[in-house]
Amino acid sequence: MKQVDLIISNIGQLITCAAREGAKKGIGMRDLGIVEDGAVAVEGKSIVGVDKSGKILAEFESENVLDASGRSVSPGFVDPHTHIVFGGDRFNEFELRIKGASYLEIMEAGGGIVSTVAKTRAASIRELASDASERLDVMLELGATTVEIKTGYGLDFENEIKMLEVIEELDKNHQVDVIPTFLAAHAIPADWKGREDEFTDLICRDMIPAAWDWYKNSHFSAEYPATEGTENTEKEIVADKTSNALTQSQPNSSSSVNSVAKFRPFFIDVFCEKNAFNLKQSKKVINTAKELGFAIKAHVDEFTNLGCAEFAIENGATSIDHLDATSNSEIDLLANSETIGVVTPTVNFNLGSGEFADARNMIDRGCAIALSTDYNPGSAPCPSQPVTMAIACRYQKLLPSEALNAVTINAAHAIGLGKTHGSIEVGKRADLLVFGTEDYRQIAYEFGRNLVFSVIKSGKRIF
Ligand code: NIG
Ligand code: FE
Repeated sequence: MKQVDLIISNIGQLITCAAREGAKKGIGMRDLGIVEDGAVAVEGKSIVGVDKSGKILAEFESENVLDASGRSVSPGFVDPHTHIVFGGDRFNEFELRIKGASYLEIMEAGGGIVSTVAKTRAASIRELASDASERLDVMLELGATTVEIKTGYGLDFENEIKMLEVIEELDKNHQVDVIPTFLAAHAIPADWKGREDEFTDLICRDMIPAAWDWYKNSHFSAEYPATEGTENTEKEIVADKTSNALTQSQPNSSSSVNSVAKFRPFFIDVFCEKNAFNLKQSKKVINTAKELGFAIKAHVDEFTNLGCAEFAIENGATSIDHLDATSNSEIDLLANSETIGVVTPTVNFNLGSGEFADARNMIDRGCAIALSTDYNPGSAPCPSQPVTMAIACRYQKLLPSEALNAVTINAAHAIGLGKTHGSIEVGKRADLLVFGTEDYRQIAYEFGRNLVFSVIKSGKRIF
């Protein structure tokens, strides 16, 4: 019998979301890889056994056995697109929208993103980190164990780097795993209006190289160098095709215990939209960053199709996000690529729109789709992946199984962590959720209640 740190047994539906071949696409998104009456064995931060309860209990023993009493267990949720580092609030704008103003009108009138910029610039690293840390606490209670966080409310050299430092603080001090994204190209600051090309030049000449230098010296790349191999020759080092970061492939054996790769990719992102960055400017931002080694994300077609989806896919973007105005030919390109389509139905819901990105059509055409909260103070003040799932099922016609894969394995692939996070498989990070339900469909069926009964993060029971 092998001694392990934790066993979770008697799991009614063990929802593995297992996917050895990469993200789940098309009809494959319905497959949750459920093991009935399952169990999971955990050693350190890693999963070392996944099988029927009887088999796991015959192979492993532990002083710490959690009896799930027939409840469902899934991988921890991954939230692949958030803007949770910000100052102030946007309550005022919420009322303006109720009275009829649109998101883009508010933005054009100097509100929206740039109003959050003023509050974020005025806040200290400590204040921003403390507020964002509270947001991460709430997200973790709601099941998110890995969260991508963007800059983009600093919009000048000093404050964009300040936001990166806040993101690093969060990863160091919070249990949630954090992935950083540099989004200096999020909006045009008031003092650069009419000089958008010059602002883009400034981002490309000064800010992006400084952000890359910051990354190289940060704990994200120090933990697991993005550009170097490892001394351990037994571990195969492979490049995650859609991100430039290196990752260790995990052999299907318990010898990989405690060797879950600690790499963290660093993403560039750009808001390609009317009154934000046009296609030419967006291309410049992406090209500059790609050259340095950034992995690529882009906000595309949230309101207006400016043609950035095709460019991002052709440049090997890890994800393209929003996709409300994406055309069928672009959707077909996406389906034939390794890029993940991230949809954010919380935005449409929050903006009171009756129209949503056609994620049903995307899945039917063979795409790999992920869901995110897009948690931010303006377009989506929502910390909850279960609420995102609930909206996606109702308005985008995702099945509960598709929605669950979209917040786990596909969401992990959307931030370059598909090999280490997002599914319950031997060698992967032991991030697990025990639900207060025996049927996974209840997670999206009920809304407004937290069905997460227990969270296990990196092998530790948090509550
Ligand atoms: O994903 N579209 C750009 N960025 C965010 C909104 C941020 C904000 O409104 O503050 C989004 O919707
Ligand atoms: Fe966003």
